[in-house]
Amino acid sequence: MLLGEIHLVYQSAMHATRASVYYLPHLDSPALRKRKLRILIDDDGLADGDTHHYQLTRAFLSVGAKCLLDDEEFGEPGELCHYLEAETADFVRLAPKVYSRSLGAWCVVEMLSVDWMRGLADALSIHFPHFRHEPYFEDCFSQQVEERHAAEALEVTQTVLRARPELLHETLRDAKITAEALDGVWTHLDRIVGDAQAKMVPDGSIGVRHERGTCEVARTAAKNTATVLVTAAQASWVC
Ligand SMILES: [Fe+2]
Repeated sequence: MLLGEIHLVYQSAMHATRASVYYLPHLDSPALRKRKLRILIDDDGLADGDTHHYQLTRAFLSVGAKCLLDDEEFGEPGELCHYLEAETADFVRLAPKVYSRSLGAWCVVEMLSVDWMRGLADALSIHFPHFRHEPYFEDCFSQQVEERHAAEALEVTQTVLRARPELLHETLRDAKITAEALDGVWTHLDRIVGDAQAKMVPDGSIGVRHERGTCEVARTAAKNTATVLVTAAQASWVC
């Protein structure tokens, strides 16, 4: 049950960002559409019809998770929210709005991705050592996919802001809103693990130990991301 709950929250947040990337504005030129497509392919165009969504579910199934939703039940935000608690539902509802109005949400999510993937992989690998070697993690870590996405998001956003500096304010605003909402998702993940820890039977037979720092990692990364984004955007603005 615990692993199923973690899967539902994490997959829902990821689903919201993966679906929302399709709505990114200001990337209409052929060159920018090509760069956007590369990001989409990295999530949804893996070999043999695979996707990051399916990979993540298989990683959880490999450690015995009883998933609470089937893969194709991750659809419209309004429907998905019926299965979620407040913080994750807030993020799932927010993602399509902020992704479709500026590039700020995309930047902050891509800057944070590698940290939260490592946080999740490290936490569960304490009990399931092969978890971090599942393709969802190993492919991304070995090919530095999320580091590339982070650099690409910042570079593309700088290009757009150079041409349209009037977008700076809304870009930074949406980055901040998104970072705060993501922090709520990790706060809830922390709570799930804390609640399970409180119910732990005396022989310690719970599936997951509360790994120090999954939430703290996200919070620290959020602060770092905001700093980098502000610096990058302001630099673009004065160029
Ligand atoms: Fe990414």
